[in-house]
Amino acid sequence: MKRLETFSREETQILGRKLAHILCPGDVVILTGDLGSGKTELVRGFMHELDPNAIVRSPSFSLVNSYPTARFTVNHFDFYRLSAAEELFEVGYDEYLSTDAICFIEWGEMFPEAIPGNCYRMIFTEASENHRVIETDLPL
Ligand SMILES: Nc1ncnc2c1ncn2[C@@H]1O[C@H](COP(=O)(O)OP(=O)(O)OP(=O)(O)O)[C@@H](O)[C@H]1O
Ligand SMILES: [Mg+2]
Repeated sequence: MKRLETFSREETQILGRKLAHILCPGDVVILTGDLGSGKTELVRGFMHELDPNAIVRSPSFSLVNSYPTARFTVNHFDFYRLSAAEELFEVGYDEYLSTDAICFIEWGEMFPEAIPGNCYRMIFTEASENHRVIETDLPL
């Protein structure tokens, strides 16, 4: 695992922007870390690189937000409010994952049975107010 550090939301967004040149359709990234640790900011940067007009909102209430882009669709999940993995399958989770989309899953570790085996991981830790440590197996 590689250890990265950011010192502002913008720096975390820049990591997301870099990811837009690394990930391929079919890739799944599990984003782990406490509330406010920067998971959604990373996806915001990623989307901004693909589509500067995209407005990324937290999917914690909607469960999933999908963003079609010129290159592929991006599905942004947040499992935080999910009470059972079955709820995922009711919203067509399998189809979201099986298409040529890139998927980000915040709080994905809450339902390991719903996580594909070959996904990437990013683990966010809040070191201080603006300082985040991000451990990842991605080549960032
Ligand atoms: N280095 C940093 N990287 C990312 N966000 C930072 C950083 N420093 C401060 N912040 C602030 O921390 C917050 C991160 O919020 P964000 O919505 O990305 O968290 P999250 O991990 O998605 O939380 P949740 O689990 O509630 O969805 C923002 O308010 C952002 O401005
Ligand atoms: Mg979030």
